[in-house]
Amino acid sequence: MKGSPHYVEGDITTMSDKIILTGDRPTGKLHIGHYVGSLRGRVELQNSGEYKKIFIMIADAQALTDNADNPEKIRQNIIEVALDYLSAGIDPEKTTLLIQSQIPELCELSFYYMNLVTVSRLQRNPTVKAEIQLRNFETSIPVGFFTYPISQAADITAFKATTVPVGEDQLPMIEQTREIVRKFNDVYGETLVEPDAMLPTEASARRLPGIDGGAKMSKSLGNCIYLSENSADLKTKVMSMYTDPDHIKISDPGKIEGNTVFTYLDAFATDAHFAEYLPEYANLDELKAHYQRGGLGDVKVKKFLLAVLEETLAPIRARRAEYQRDIAGVYDILKKGSEAAREVAAETLSDVRAAMKINYFDDKALIESQAKLYGDK
Ligand code: TRP
Repeated sequence: MKGSPHYVEGDITTMSDKIILTGDRPTGKLHIGHYVGSLRGRVELQNSGEYKKIFIMIADAQALTDNADNPEKIRQNIIEVALDYLSAGIDPEKTTLLIQSQIPELCELSFYYMNLVTVSRLQRNPTVKAEIQLRNFETSIPVGFFTYPISQAADITAFKATTVPVGEDQLPMIEQTREIVRKFNDVYGETLVEPDAMLPTEASARRLPGIDGGAKMSKSLGNCIYLSENSADLKTKVMSMYTDPDHIKISDPGKIEGNTVFTYLDAFATDAHFAEYLPEYANLDELKAHYQRGGLGDVKVKKFLLAVLEETLAPIRARRAEYQRDIAGVYDILKKGSEAAREVAAETLSDVRAAMKINYFDDKALIESQAKLYGDK
C-alpha cells in the first residue's frame, strides 16, 4: 500500500472504511527499537489519510495484569509513553490517544466474551504461554493475566477496528480476537468486525539489538537508546557500541553480520544521509563493502551513525521539549481522547447488548408480548 513503507497488509475492506487500533503497555519509556518497529510506521499510517479513524491505546489495565503490585510504575509511565508518541509525530488531531482503564465498556465486553472462550484455548495461546514462562508464573498465574487475550479482543472490537498494526509476537492475540468475533457473530448475529493484523515490513520488523550487541534492547540490561536520549548521552552510547571484535586495526577486514553499528545503519541510514554526511559513499552497500575489504575504521562508521541518529532524534527531542512544557495539556489530550473513545465503545456495547438480547428496557416487543401473556389472565 501507498501509505507506509514500514507496514504490509493483506487485501481487506475499502480504504475509507478502515479503522486502526493499536497500543502499548506503559511499562517503560520507548526506545529507538520501538521507533523502528512500530512508531515510525504508525506515524506514516496516520499521515497517509487512508484511515477513517485511528486509535492508539495506552494499555494500562493490561500492564496491571502482570504488575498488580506496582501500580506506581504503570502510573508514571503513562505520561512517558504519551510524550514518546507525541514527540514521534502522533498528532492528536488525527489520532485518538486513549487510556484503556478509562473505558469501562471494555470490561463489560470482556465479561461477555469470556463465555465464548475455553480455558484450554487460552492455555494454547502461544503469546500467553511464552509470557507465563518469561515471568515464572507457571504455578501461580493471575486470572487477569491469563484472560488478557479476551480483554485485548474487547480493545480491538470496541472500536470496530479493521486493522491492527502489531509485531509478529502479537499474531496469536489477533487470531484469538478473530475467533471470538466469529463465534459471537455466529451465536448472536453479525455484530462485530473481524480485524486483520498488519505486520511491519521485513526491514522494519528486524529487531534492533542492544548497543552491547545483546539480542534485545532492555531497560534492565542498560543497553537501550531512548527516543528521548539527549545529544551527549547519545554520543557516549554510539561511540561505545559493539562492532566486530576481530576488527582491530583499520586495515583489518571487518564483519557486517552481528555488527550492531551496521544493524542500526540498516534501520536508519538513507542515501540522503550519505550525501549529507559521508559523500565519499553513495549508499550503505558501498560503505559495507569497504568495511569488509578492510581500510575503514569503526570510529568513522560510528560518527556517521551518530550523525544519522542525531538528525532522526533532534526533531523528536524538540517536540518532546514542547510537550514537556505543558504536561497538563498532555493529560488533557489523553482525557479528551479517552472521552471520544468511550463514546465509540459505548455504541459497540449497545450493539452487543442488543444482539445478546439483554437490552430488556429497550425491548418493547419483549415487554408487550409478556404483558399480553399475563395481562389476558
Ligand atoms: N498486548 C500489546 C503489547 O503487549 C498491547 C495491547 C493491548 C494491544 N491492547 C491492544 C495491541 C490492542 C494491539 C491491540 O504490546
